[in-house]
Amino acid sequence: MGKWLTVEEKFELVMKHRRCPSLSQTKLARWAQTAFNLSRAPLTNTVKKILQSASEIEEKQRLGITKRGRDVASPELEVALKSFVDACEADGVRLSRKLLAQKARQILAGLPEDTRPKMALSVGWMTNFMARHGLRRLGPWKLVPLDISEKQSIAVAARALEGVPIDLLINNAGVCENHNLEDTTSENCVRQFEVNALGPLLMTRALLPNLRLAVSARGSAFVAQITSRMGSVADNSSGGAYGYRASKGALNVFTKSLAIDLAPQNIGCLLLHPGNVNTAHGNFTGAVEPEESVAGMARIIACVRVEDPLQMRHFGKGDVIDW
Ligand SMILES: NC(=O)c1ccc[n+]([C@@H]2O[C@H](COP(=O)([O-])OP(=O)(O)OC[C@H]3O[C@@H](n4cnc5c(N)ncnc54)[C@H](OP(=O)(O)O)[C@@H]3O)[C@@H](O)[C@H]2O)c1
Repeated sequence: MGKWLTVEEKFELVMKHRRCPSLSQTKLARWAQTAFNLSRAPLTNTVKKILQSASEIEEKQRLGITKRGRDVASPELEVALKSFVDACEADGVRLSRKLLAQKARQILAGLPEDTRPKMALSVGWMTNFMARHGLRRLGPWKLVPLDISEKQSIAVAARALEGVPIDLLINNAGVCENHNLEDTTSENCVRQFEVNALGPLLMTRALLPNLRLAVSARGSAFVAQITSRMGSVADNSSGGAYGYRASKGALNVFTKSLAIDLAPQNIGCLLLHPGNVNTAHGNFTGAVEPEESVAGMARIIACVRVEDPLQMRHFGKGDVIDW
């Protein structure tokens, strides 16, 4: 017999459905099994019922009415995580939910096995932890509007970030127009080139002062370009997608020069293939969930060194994709 889903888990499932509305109930059930570490996937009927009572679940979550209530499930975790938050605040380090969750997992793993509580550290648990400690202001430090295909917009964004050290710049914006030989036009090629190739190059150049500030403070800084294996000449076995393939190929070429030019300043570059991700990019037909793709890329970024040779790396295990 599988365990019942907690309110927190049901809430996460509802949120997952909102983020990926095209996921079928069977896929949602499989996602829940992995995400909540269940011995078996919930029945699709259970998923259906949860989605039907979404507003009720959201209200319970908002009020902190969970199976465990607002009680502290692990005082050790609570104290250790709070002191981490305090230390970060004292050092002026900005925290995100992701960082907090990572730290919580680390603390939990460090507790003796016999006293370690079984906790999913869900979004709901994090919300309750933040509520208990009045941490309402976690989130992006600053949001800056940007159209990466517009020189003027890049300049305005760079001005808004003047004097801010940036130790990791991730150029993620991208457009994918799947044109074949018949409908490829100079206009759709140029549009994709501007967003996928030129944009990341100009953005990197505009934020060089910020990357250099981070180098002064911490010794190194990195630029991660979210490319695609579709930009690989060697990997192209299906043709088509002229403008997209060429733009990602150009991004790889630009980044090779950036890597050579910036290494002496202790700024390293990465080229990451995020996988076939379930996003708007491919009409939500991708096999990899965004969380999995991001977690894989984050693992690669965490291990990179400036002196590493530039290669196109697969998000999964960091395998090199021939370009
Ligand atoms: N999904 C995949 O299977 C896949 C595979 C290989 C590579 N990639 C690459 O991964 C990256 C992320 O793609 P995704 O899957 O998350 O696709 P997505 O869901 O379509 O997201 C693309 C993002 O790029 C932003 N963007 C597009 N044009 C922009 C512009 N001119 N200025 C600023 N932002 C712009 C979009 O912002 P708005 O929402 O505001 O439009 C959106 O946030 C892209 O570089 C893509 O080429 C994706």
